Amino acid sequence: MHNIYKAFGGVHAVEDVSIDLYPGEVVGLVGHNGAGKTTLIKILSGVFQADSGRIYIDGREVMIRNPGDARGYGIETIYQNLALADNLDAPANIFLGRELMRGFALNEDAMEAESRKVLDRLRITLTSLRDSVLTLSGGQRQAVAIGRALYFNARILIMDEPTAALGPAEARQVGQLIKQLKGERVGIFLISHDIHDVFEYADRISVLKTGRLVGTVRKTEVTQDDVLTMIIAGALPQHGVVPPPVSH
Ligand SMILES: Nc1ncnc2c1ncn2[C@@H]1O[C@H](COP(=O)(O)OP(=O)(O)OP(=O)(O)O)[C@@H](O)[C@H]1O
Ligand SMILES: [Mg+2]
Repeated sequence: MHNIYKAFGGVHAVEDVSIDLYPGEVVGLVGHNGAGKTTLIKILSGVFQADSGRIYIDGREVMIRNPGDARGYGIETIYQNLALADNLDAPANIFLGRELMRGFALNEDAMEAESRKVLDRLRITLTSLRDSVLTLSGGQRQAVAIGRALYFNARILIMDEPTAALGPAEARQVGQLIKQLKGERVGIFLISHDIHDVFEYADRISVLKTGRLVGTVRKTEVTQDDVLTMIIAGALPQHGVVPPPVSH
């Protein structure tokens, strides 16, 4: 994403932000409440249109006008307030809006079988796939959301606060999923307020402050204090700062 701007009325939510992401990489997006993280990724996922700026995939400029366009490019999103339909079971959630059909009827058996495959791939076992997801744990719910993204061959997965509502054990389970997706060469934008999580899973960390990019750093070359200083004071550390993506 190059030189992205987005304002809501007089609020400059995102101002001249450039970030990039490689296959199998996790980029942590951090910053205070209202820093512009969700707005930025909603531009990538087609929920918002940028006022200006460009998006490139594999070096080619793309137009993402709506969530359908984003999915077409393999961009899948798991939102802050996990968008699962509580009254539906896991297969119905995985295929929500993209149901498998047999003629004019839902192909429930195929959706169940495919759901089982994708959850197996994530090493998630649900006692019954036919129970509503309301009965699942937070970690299992995240797995269903990730399964949905995986089934549709996500190349870029955006996770907005995936562990915010979870207990420690469930958060670890989501962490395992992140590592597995990395192994499958999925690129992940991980938005999190939990600096420990970000340090555990991210390869690089991009810091936003009041809509602007403070900078991007390589995790192995900075300390958590360095990143906190970026978040709070907007100041860059001496080492580990990555140059912004090259403009085309
Ligand atoms: N739909 C909207 N309409 C108007 N203003 C918005 C809208 N969405 C976000 N904003 C504003 O844009 C700014 C950035 O918000 P955003 O949700 O991107 O922040 P964030 O970094 O995701 O914060 P948080 O950590 O609290 O989730 C804030 O000032 C917010 O009030
Ligand atoms: Mg947000």
